[in-house]
Amino acid sequence: MKKLAIFASGTGSNAAKIIDFFSVPEKQIQVALIVCNNSNAGVLQIASKNFIPTLIIHKEQFINGNAYLPQLKQLEIDFIVLAGFLWKIPQKLIEAFPNKIINIHPALLPKYGGKGMYGDNVHKAVIENKETQSGITIHFVNEQYDEGEIIFQTSCNIDEKDTAKTLAKKIHELEHKHFSKVIEQIISK
Ligand code: GRF
Repeated sequence: MKKLAIFASGTGSNAAKIIDFFSVPEKQIQVALIVCNNSNAGVLQIASKNFIPTLIIHKEQFINGNAYLPQLKQLEIDFIVLAGFLWKIPQKLIEAFPNKIINIHPALLPKYGGKGMYGDNVHKAVIENKETQSGITIHFVNEQYDEGEIIFQTSCNIDEKDTAKTLAKKIHELEHKHFSKVIEQIISK
C-alpha cells in the first residue's frame, strides 16, 4: 500500500475526488494525510468527513525550517500531490521526494504559468488574450514554479461567450475527470 499526502489550501474539490477515487479497497494507494496552510480552508472539512488526518503548516517552518519532513516520514508518506497549494516547494522536500511530487495547473503550460498565475488569474488572462483553447497540465514539481516535466495535458475549447467563471468550470471538470487516474498511473509505475 502506497501512502499519498495531498497538499491543498483551497476548496478542495480535487482533493475530494482523489479521496473518493482511492477509497475503494482494491486500490493500492491510500490518501493518508491532507497538508494545508490555511486553517479555514474547505479542504479541512473534506478531510474530517473522510477521517483523514490533517497537518496545518506554517510558512517559516516549511520554507526555512525542516519542511515538515519528520511528520511526513513518520506517517510513511510515499508520494505528494499538490491540488490547489500555492507556496513554492522547498528544495529539501523536492530532494526527499524525487519525482514523487506532482502538481495540477489549470492551463496549458508553459503558457499561463509562473508566480501569480493561479486560480482566476489564469482564466482571466486566458480570456483576455482571446485564446481559443485552454486546458490542464499535470507535471512533476521542481524548484521553479510550474516548470517541472509535463506528465499529462488535455484541452477544452473556449467559446466567445466564455468568461473566466465559465472557463473555470470547464477546467475543474477536466481536473476532476483526469487527475486521480494520472496519479494512479504515476504511483503504480
Ligand atoms: C485547481 O484548479 C488546480 O488546478 C489549482 O488549484 C485549483 C484547486 O481547486 N492548482 P480545488 O480546491 O481542488 O477546487
